[in-house]
Amino acid sequence: MSRNAILVAINGTQAGDWIPLLRQRVKNHDLRIWPDETGNASDIAYAFVWNPPRGLLAGLPNLKAIVNIGAGVDALLSDPTLPRVPIARAAHPDLTRRVVGYVVLQVLAHHNRSRLYDAQQRERVWQPHKHPSSDEVAVGIMGLGVIGSEAAAVLARLGFRVAGWSRTPKTLPGIETFHGEAGLDAFLRRTEILVCLLPSTPQTSGLLNLVLFRKLKRDGAAGGAFLVNAARGKLQVDTDILAALDDGTLAAATLDVFPQEPLPASSPLWTHPKVTLTPHVAGDISPEAFADHIIAQVERFERGLPMEATVDRAQGY
Ligand code: NAP
Ligand code: GLV
Repeated sequence: MSRNAILVAINGTQAGDWIPLLRQRVKNHDLRIWPDETGNASDIAYAFVWNPPRGLLAGLPNLKAIVNIGAGVDALLSDPTLPRVPIARAAHPDLTRRVVGYVVLQVLAHHNRSRLYDAQQRERVWQPHKHPSSDEVAVGIMGLGVIGSEAAAVLARLGFRVAGWSRTPKTLPGIETFHGEAGLDAFLRRTEILVCLLPSTPQTSGLLNLVLFRKLKRDGAAGGAFLVNAARGKLQVDTDILAALDDGTLAAATLDVFPQEPLPASSPLWTHPKVTLTPHVAGDISPEAFADHIIAQVERFERGLPMEATVDRAQGY
């Protein structure tokens, strides 16, 4: 049994929630917890990881598969020594519901002028404002994968005019779709509330910049252009977001992710009146909901079946 051991290497505070649960639920494999219980590296066949240190997985000569405990694999793939074994990532209804809930909350907050009413409440001001109907407002979702396509569907059910942009062509009921570099400008020109649900790859790095923000539709019913980034910080240029907020290119922004996390205390984003920010929590994964799924990934692999949600290393997501 020990030659088919699973190494758990979770770099972060969430390790405290995962490890006791995995100790209870992993029945058919020897479980090794990095760093203290790694044991003989050649026993390890599978790795459950989140942001493992560079080089750790390269030191496992019999590794057969990696399960990433998160949707984004950018940190994992940035390790040049990463062994060439199959990688599965998190694509799970609990995670999707959480991120979609976050996105819908933030789109509605911009649409319903929540920050304005919060400020008015603090000043005891009773002042209603006109709100457009959702079907007058154009929302654009960048990324129509597992999470983006569900966010698009839910926002469309709320009545918004939803479009999406992806790398390859897509057909989704009730959603206008655009793809590739050739489709980007037309997608931006019709979008008032821009939601980013793209992976961080060399192609998407720095995409959310001033040039792009200036292409958004500002004269629509929403009353300006808005940004919601619930994907990865490397996609956004913070100084460009600040410039766009200050010159009116963007009316407001919600940011869950940042190029440097934790966001440095010196960042002007913390106190900017048009910024809502959260500490990378849009899609916290619940170990309770997810543990059995990752154990089942190993069982599928051992039965010779492909793991679910495998990563295309050439595309980087
Ligand atoms: P996914 O299923 O892999 O979907 C990715 C989407 O992005 C696909 O539609 C893909 O196009 C599109 N895409 C990739 N590269 C592109 C490019 N260069 N140009 C245009 N479109 C491109 O991913 P997911 O599960 O929906 O998750 C999306 C991202 O959300 C993750 O990578 C992660 O970084 C982030 N995330 C953040 C949190 C959080 O807590 N903030 C939580 C979960 C996930 P195709 O459909 O054509 O392949
Ligand atoms: C969280 O950011 C994830 O990628 O799951």
